[in-house]
Amino acid sequence: MKRILVTGGAGFIGANFVRYLIEHSDAGITVLDALTYAGNLQSLHGLDRSRLHVVVGDITDAPLVDGLVADADAVVHFAAESHNDNSLFDPRPFLDTNVVGTYTLLEAVRRHEVRFHHISTDEVYGDLELDDPARFTETTPYNPSSPYSSTKAASDMLVRAWGRSFGVRATISNCSNNYGPYQHVEKFIPRQITNILHGVRPKLYGTGANVRDWIHVEDHSSAVWEIVNRGTPGKTYLIGADGEKNNREVLELILGLMGQDAAAFDHVTDRPGHDLRYGIDSTMLREELGWSPAHRDLAAGLAQTIDWYRQNPWWWEGAKAGTEDRYVQQAAARGTEDAGTAGGGA
Ligand code: NAD
Ligand code: DAU
Repeated sequence: MKRILVTGGAGFIGANFVRYLIEHSDAGITVLDALTYAGNLQSLHGLDRSRLHVVVGDITDAPLVDGLVADADAVVHFAAESHNDNSLFDPRPFLDTNVVGTYTLLEAVRRHEVRFHHISTDEVYGDLELDDPARFTETTPYNPSSPYSSTKAASDMLVRAWGRSFGVRATISNCSNNYGPYQHVEKFIPRQITNILHGVRPKLYGTGANVRDWIHVEDHSSAVWEIVNRGTPGKTYLIGADGEKNNREVLELILGLMGQDAAAFDHVTDRPGHDLRYGIDSTMLREELGWSPAHRDLAAGLAQTIDWYRQNPWWWEGAKAGTEDRYVQQAAARGTEDAGTAGGGA
């Protein structure tokens, strides 16, 4: 793989993947990113520019996409509207980017016969009961709950159809919740870390019993790179690191690691339609490609992540107040007042 086009490479996981490729491959990388509120070129700071070319543009721009795909050996497609809370407030950009954007890329890889890897989410499978021993597998039926996850499910279906109908060499990976450096402060873990750094009490939706299956973003990157190189076109791979924990437990870990009392947080109104539990069975990926996660200790990974946010306020401070204002607006639109921290300050 010589030339890789990475869509969404200025976002959280895309930027970490670009960093992974710079370190673990000799590929030339082109990033295509629209720099929405979630994209940040600073996430690519310090990288070797002789191997990295950045194009600011939209994945729904067919002529632009066509030219970039024509020059690539493979496309790894991360670009998306990614945040459930935003999708409940304004679903339209999710349809445009996640569905029409993926369609636009598929038409280009079809024309130019370029290998395609589609990054997706475990949320396409809906949720599991808290006491259900089952976990998601590659054959679990799709049952998405939110506007975000339904548009991701739609994009997965497009990828499968373009593979079967037009012979596009495509793989899909559905991964669980990522954490690590360069994650936008709207997401659960960085929101709580940066609240605490601002002297603001963390916000836990509902009772905090909802379970997420946490994986370090570096492990997501290593799995994706294995699939791009050695995965079988037409297949779906589930990526997970056996990291199930409920939100309250994760928050208590963060509070403890940051020297706070375990009860120093506020319960706020629950997210509408809030998925109860995600859990990934990644046996197929492990057995077929020999992949395994390097980060197996969530507390150690969280400590490293807290340290990163403490050391790099220059990266996140600019987005914090606007993000908290957006939470206030979203809560007001739902008729609840308690989910945000107006102004992002104490
Ligand atoms: P993110 O919101 O941090 O980044 C998304 C990036 O896509 C941003 O840089 C943004 O500018 C760019 N983008 C958005 N719309 C675009 C458009 N129309 N054209 C070009 N670029 C556009 O998202 P993330 O958390 O890094 O997620 C990346 C991918 O991984 C998504 O497809 C998401 O569904 C998937 N995923 C995320 C997680 C998670 O825990 N965050 C887990 C599993 C899968
Ligand atoms: O499972 C993979 C998915 O994980 C990805 O597809 C999504 O792109 C990604 O955003 C993430 O979705 P979640 O909705 O699970 O992530 P989020 O960080 O928004 O929330 C994680 C959990 O924490 C969820 O149960 C809601 C809860 N939460 C979130 C926020 C922002 C809180 O309790 N308080 C908060 O302030």
